[in-house]
Order: sequence, then C-alpha cells, then structure tokens
Amino acid sequence: MFQLRCTVRGCREPLHRDDNGLACAAGHHFDRAKAGYWPLLQPQDRRSLNAGDSDTSVLARHRWLARGHMAGLVESLRPWVASPRANDSPADDSFLRTLDLGCGEGSFGKALLASCADTFCGIDLSKRALKLAARGWPAATWVLANADRTLPVADASVHRVVSLFGRRPVAEIGRVLAPSGICIVAVPGEDDLVEVRERVQQSGNRRSRWEAVVEEMASVGMECCEQKQWQHRVKLNREAIFDALAMTYRAARRSQQTIADSLSEMDVTLAADLILLRKSE
Ligand SMILES: C[S@@+](CC[C@H](N)C(=O)[O-])C[C@H]1O[C@@H](n2cnc3c(N)ncnc32)[C@H](O)[C@@H]1O
Ligand SMILES: [Zn+2]
Repeated sequence: MFQLRCTVRGCREPLHRDDNGLACAAGHHFDRAKAGYWPLLQPQDRRSLNAGDSDTSVLARHRWLARGHMAGLVESLRPWVASPRANDSPADDSFLRTLDLGCGEGSFGKALLASCADTFCGIDLSKRALKLAARGWPAATWVLANADRTLPVADASVHRVVSLFGRRPVAEIGRVLAPSGICIVAVPGEDDLVEVRERVQQSGNRRSRWEAVVEEMASVGMECCEQKQWQHRVKLNREAIFDALAMTYRAARRSQQTIADSLSEMDVTLAADLILLRKSE
C-alpha cells in the first residue's frame, strides 16, 4: 500500500502494516475504519476553516459524477498522468506515487489511475466521501486527514499530486513532491454552470482562477508546463440541476431555493481550467 507516515504530534515515523492496522516504530497504532479508510486525523488538525464537504454535498457529487458528464475532463487529464515510454515499450508507471488532495468520493482517481492502486492515496476530511471512495476502489489507500495541515507522507516521496477541485496546500505540495514531480490542478472555469448561476443566483459572474493557481504554485518552485480548458454543454434535468447546486452550495438561500424549485430542464455549460505544473529538479 501507499507509504504513509505517522500523524501523532512530533512523530513522523513511517507507518507499516501490522496484523491489525498501521503502526510506527514509536508504538503508535491506527486501525482501519470499517468503511475502508485510514483515520489519521489528529485532534489538533481537526479544526479547519473548511471542515470538508457536507454529506448532502458529497452524495450530490457522487450522483453527479455517476451521470458521466465529466468523462471528457478525465480524458483531457489522461495524457498528463501517462508516463513517457522508452523504445515503444509499455510504460510501467506503477511505481509512481500519486496523492489526491480533497479526493472526494474517489471516482476521478480510479478513472485516471486504475492500474496504480498500490501507489495511489486519496486524502479527504469527509468520512462519507471516503466511505464511497473505499467502496468504489478498495485496492487504493484512502486517508481521513486535513489536507490543509501537515500531509501524512515523507518529504520528496510523491511523484504526482492531484487536486481536482480539491485542496492546494502549496508549501506541503512543494515538500512532498520528489524532484521533477508533477502537480495536476483543476479549478472551475469562468463559464462553469453559468446558466444555472444566472437563473438561480441572478448573477453569472465570470471569474478566472487558474492564473492565481500558477502564481501561488510558483512560490514553492513549481513551474506551469501546460494549461488547457475543458468545456462541455449538457442538457440537465431537474435532479441534475439540484445536484449541481447542492455540490457547490449555490442554492443555500431560501429565495434561491424557490427559483431552483421552478427549474425543469436546461442547457448548461460545464467548464474547468486544467493546469500541469512541475517541480524543479
Ligand atoms: C469540490 S469537492 C472535489 C472532490 C473530488 N476531487 C472531485 O472532483 O470529485 C472538494 C473536496 O475537498 C474536501 N475537503 C475540503 N476541505 C478539506 C481539507 N481541509 N482536507 C481534506 N479534504 C478537504 C471535501 O470534503 C470535498 O470532498
Ligand atoms: Zn508515531
């Protein structure tokens, strides 16, 4: 399984499998949760400005991804996780360790890296999300931890960090990535769900986020190698519109809920900005 390190304050020893779970040389022990993830969250890391997504939001995203609207986004990202092949031989990238920060219900990780379960680890603060992730891809490693605090992995031990609409603790990303390691980021594009936002929030503000990501990552020596946009037009029914709203907290206010209730079917733009960054050698 993915090599993790102990999260007990001040310890940081590598964690190894023992009969009942994970243990470090200092004698700390972690049982695996029944649902299949490793609860490495420590009391001091529990508090966060962002406590992880609510169960409602996680379940809405799970249904949303199951509808397949985002399949094209996975295909856009695929070339970035493919490793270069030498002499046309099949690439063996199973040794490349990937850390997914804010992995949610895990289906992006599985879709992108299905053959790399031993070297894939998803981190999230939502138990509900991790339960779905572990059910969907039991062979991968799923960890309950706060990705905005110290990450439970050793320095320079990860080859790819993935943050798909997830967390970006830039200093920690810089620490855990090996030299030449990559970071793949997806953020909502300017036009993402713009039609829904115009109708429900009565504001279709367009905001580009990717430039700020490139800037913040440059502060830890990560260079942007490629940036691209993904867009997809889709007709959404009422249930799908509700899920889109629920997973983005956009229908929280009562007046917005009333407008959302009146929607039946609409053509909607899905958009994301995708960024590939590389750590210097
Ligand atoms: C918009 S969702 C994206 C999930 C997944 N990457 C996807 O695209 O389906 C953001 C995720 O980040 C998680 N999250 C929020 N704050 C977090 C934190 N401090 N540490 C770890 N995960 C966090 C949420 O629980 C949620 O699952
Ligand atoms: Zn320990």
